[in-house]
Parts: sequence; structure tokens; C-alpha cells
Amino acid sequence: MKRYLITGASRGIGRAIAEKLAAPNCALLLHGRNREALAETCRLVEAKGAKALPLVYDLRRAARVEKLIAAVGPKPLDGLIHNAGVALVKPYQDITLAEWDTLFAVNVTAPFLLTQHLVPRMREGSSIVNILSIAAKTGFPGWSCYCMTKFALEGFSQCIREEVRGRGIRVLNIYPAATNTDIWNDVEGNWPREKMLLPEEIGDAVAYALSRPPGVAIENLDVLNLTGRL
Ligand SMILES: NC(=O)c1ccc[n+]([C@@H]2O[C@H](COP(=O)([O-])OP(=O)(O)OC[C@H]3O[C@@H](n4cnc5c(N)ncnc54)[C@H](OP(=O)(O)O)[C@@H]3O)[C@@H](O)[C@H]2O)c1
Repeated sequence: MKRYLITGASRGIGRAIAEKLAAPNCALLLHGRNREALAETCRLVEAKGAKALPLVYDLRRAARVEKLIAAVGPKPLDGLIHNAGVALVKPYQDITLAEWDTLFAVNVTAPFLLTQHLVPRMREGSSIVNILSIAAKTGFPGWSCYCMTKFALEGFSQCIREEVRGRGIRVLNIYPAATNTDIWNDVEGNWPREKMLLPEEIGDAVAYALSRPPGVAIENLDVLNLTGRL
């Protein structure tokens, strides 16, 4: 039975990944904060025959990340999927320290701690998946704090990839363009939702990368909209 942890699985891209990976031979450890939304993801994957375990922890606090790590338990994961994330669009002068702290805690510190504690016990043939962004490669006006966190995770993942390669563990980085999820609800500005990708497309990309034979690593996958940037 495959065992995957997906952070931020209560909605959006994380839920779409969970739905794409759900299968009878699969145990999905589904993390989020919103209990009801997470319960709905559990129902969706259980309907496809997967086992689901909801894990409710706020990633803004390192102590809660440690509790999440303890809840995952000693059994090795076949896939560690860093998906939970927060966005912020603001001129750099207006970003508060509290906003900065939140973005770094959720987008950088949580994946760092989860990697540090869960990857040492992962086995040959398993995978780490990072849901990065086109904002991990390119700067956009107003996106400085978000881009900084995604660039940070990009750098971390490149180093970890080389540290675990010899153990037969793959690091698969996915770079979605704008995708129509709730993340945009709190982002300032008018963003054309109808031009965005669907979260299912990102779920498909993750499922495809994970489905390749263990010796094949889809290390960097851009998922873009053919019409270009918004
Ligand atoms: N949507 C896009 O355009 C886009 C493009 C490129 C990359 N991405 C990346 O894709 C990932 C998923 O984004 P999404 O668009 O699916 O966003 P979303 O719909 O807003 O979902 C975010 C997920 O992260 C969780 N989360 C947020 N803050 C958290 C916290 N403090 N503690 C624990 N969990 C927390 C949420 O859980 P709760 O709601 O339960 O709290 C939710 O499950 C993010 O890393 C994002 O940066 C998104």
C-alpha cells in the first residue's frame, strides 16, 4: 500500500492531487486546517477506495508542525507532497512583519521541518513533491514576499535533491501558472479567473510525475496556460 502525505489537502490544488492519487492500494494522509473541508476531501478519496487520515494542524507554528510529524508516525512515506501555501500581493513597502512571518512559516519553514524529520526514514523509490510556482523562477511586481518564499523552497529543493539522489529518492518540482483556487480570494487586484488553469491539471501533473518508474525523475514540470501570462 502506497502512503502519501499531502499538505494543504482541504481544498484547491491539494484536494485535486488527493483525488488524482486516490486508489484502493493507497493511504492518503491529508493535512489542512479547516476540519469540514478536510472531511470533504476524505469523503472524495474514500469514494475511490483510498484510505484517508485527516491531519488538522496550523503550519504557522513550528510546534504544530512537530505535532503533525508525530501524527504521521514512524512508518515511511512513499510520497511527501509539500503543497500548503499562502499568497500575498502588496508593494514591498507595505508588507508587515506579521505577513512576512506567516508566508515564511507556511511556505518555507513547514516544508523544511517536514523534510528534515520525514525524509530520513523514506525508502528507495519514494518521492518528495514540491508545489512551487512560476513565481519560484520569475519576479512579478507586488509579489516580492511570495516570490521570496518560493525561490527559497526552490533552492532548498535543489540541494535536497542531490542529498537524497544516492538513496534512490526523487525530488519532483511542479511549477503551476495561475490556477483557479481560493488562494486568489485574498489577493488584491482583479484577476481573470476564467483564464486560469484548473486545479485538476496540477493534480494530473503530480500523479503523472509520481507514476513514472522509480528510475525516471520528472524533476521540473512547468504547467502553463497556452494563452500566456494573465
Ligand atoms: N492557485 C495558484 O494560482 C497557484 C499557482 C502556483 C502555485 N500555487 C501553489 O499551490 C499550493 C496550493 O495553493 P492553492 O491555490 O490550492 O491554494 P488554496 O486553495 O488557498 O489552498 C491552500 C491550502 O493550504 C492550506 N493552508 C494555508 N495556510 C495554512 C496554515 N497556516 N496551516 C495549515 N494549512 C494551511 C489551506 O488549508 P485550510 O484552508 O484548511 O486552512 C489549504 O488546504 C500553494 O503552495 C501555492 O503557492 C498556487
